[in-house]
Amino acid sequence: MSDWKTFSTYKEETIRQNLEKLKLLGRTLTLNDFSSIDLFHPGMHAGLDMLMSEYSLPKDGIALDIGCGIGGVSRYLASCGFTVKGVDINDSFLKIAQEITELVGLSDKITYHSLNLVNDEIPPASYTFANMICVLILISDISFFRDLYKYFQIDGAIYIEDYFLIRECITDEERKYVNDLGLTNIRTLESVVSTLQSYGYEVKVLEDISKIWSESIWDRAERIWNRKIADEIVDDLELYGYAIAAPKMLSFLSHYSIEELSNLFPHTLNAVGIKTVYENEKFVNCSRIAAFKRS
Ligand SMILES: C[S@@+](CC[C@H](N)C(=O)[O-])C[C@H]1O[C@@H](n2cnc3c(N)ncnc32)[C@H](O)[C@@H]1O
Repeated sequence: MSDWKTFSTYKEETIRQNLEKLKLLGRTLTLNDFSSIDLFHPGMHAGLDMLMSEYSLPKDGIALDIGCGIGGVSRYLASCGFTVKGVDINDSFLKIAQEITELVGLSDKITYHSLNLVNDEIPPASYTFANMICVLILISDISFFRDLYKYFQIDGAIYIEDYFLIRECITDEERKYVNDLGLTNIRTLESVVSTLQSYGYEVKVLEDISKIWSESIWDRAERIWNRKIADEIVDDLELYGYAIAAPKMLSFLSHYSIEELSNLFPHTLNAVGIKTVYENEKFVNCSRIAAFKRS
């Protein structure tokens, strides 16, 4: 099993290098300057935007960014009007989150809190919104959703984006990919929905986003293969994890013809094989969920 934090995207030194490059621009930095480095998930803020517009969420309340990483979503929510509490177990991420937040002038809107969602209390507040993107897969116990329910105002909403198992029973080979990518606590969508419902939430599955995330994962894989082919240094773990295991695990690309795929992602397709896309039974997908406290 690999530790997902060892992948370069999550390494403090990689994030700091990118941050230092931006500081060298020598001007006031804005949210947009950080858009290529401050999120650890594909698809930017499209889901949040959809939720906020379709459900007319009030943007002047208190939001909780669960597993906030380096704070990309916290800052986006603050820029929309929310007062935000970002929580994460990783103190080095939180330090960078705070630094970027100061650089873009949003410190009066966001506080960051170091905590382990499995053992610690979430900061008490009268929340109107919470989001949790790409974090469920890492958490062994999701009973904190019950405390969150207690803190939510009526019509408070939690927004989730993540990977889910398509079926409970997966083969040893499939389990290996999941573990190798560090998705150790991946669950089925049904089990997450029923846990939320058991705490009182009204749950809506908004969208299957497997195609969008597949495309992003294959795009990243292709960039890694291009670096490898250009004889740049590519870490073995990253090559295996991001350029083989990840595109094998998420390959919802059969809406493309083989010719189109070969043009878009030639090296990745060669590495994982055509069957991965068109024949093999899928075992992981990605979805957006919204859950509301109604009474
Ligand atoms: C894949 S990153 C996603 C970060 C952010 N949500 C984003 O999409 O940019 C997962 C985050 O969850 C945090 N995390 C993992 N386990 C946690 C736990 N038990 N308690 C709090 N945070 C945790 C990690 O430190 C990391 O920042």
